[in-house]
Amino acid sequence: RDGLYYINGILIVNKSYDLPSSYNPGGLLSSFNSAFGTMKSAAANEGISLNIGSGFRSYSTQNGLYNRYAARDGYAAADTYSARPGHSEHQTGLAADIKGPNDYLYLNQEWINTSEGQWLNNNCYKYGFIIRYPRGKEGITGYIYEPWHIRYVGVDVATQLYNGGNWITLEEYLGIDSKY
Ligand code: DAL
Ligand code: ZN
Repeated sequence: RDGLYYINGILIVNKSYDLPSSYNPGGLLSSFNSAFGTMKSAAANEGISLNIGSGFRSYSTQNGLYNRYAARDGYAAADTYSARPGHSEHQTGLAADIKGPNDYLYLNQEWINTSEGQWLNNNCYKYGFIIRYPRGKEGITGYIYEPWHIRYVGVDVATQLYNGGNWITLEEYLGIDSKY
């Protein structure tokens, strides 16, 4: 629809499905913001601090980011952790990278061992978010484990993917590939 790929009403962005470079919602969508606000308050009531480190990123921002990583680590390595422009969920306005109170653990896999990382992994589905790149699913999603990256899909789908904290990927759920 309008150059965007939807399956079962879910906007799909991965290595196989991209977004037009012109697609720019201008920021996080209200569905994301509203659910995130509710989740942030619920977490705060339990002493958990959840903050958005990186939310919406335009095609051009992602292009700069990806090329910077590729220049540093090489394209093959960059492809394991950074999406090529047009292939990032951050361009949808439905995804964000979450951080707790300690900046040094931001975008670090060790973050899963903090109370914030654990809380997010085990509770985000109640608010409609999924852990998009789960541990052990690198061969399916095409990306390393990212305990910080959440994607809004709605409570119904998120609840089906939660699987007791051993997250099922969108690729498995929808029977699709993620390959360049
Ligand atoms: N780190 C994720 C895959 C992105 O660049 O969108
Ligand atoms: Zn991310």
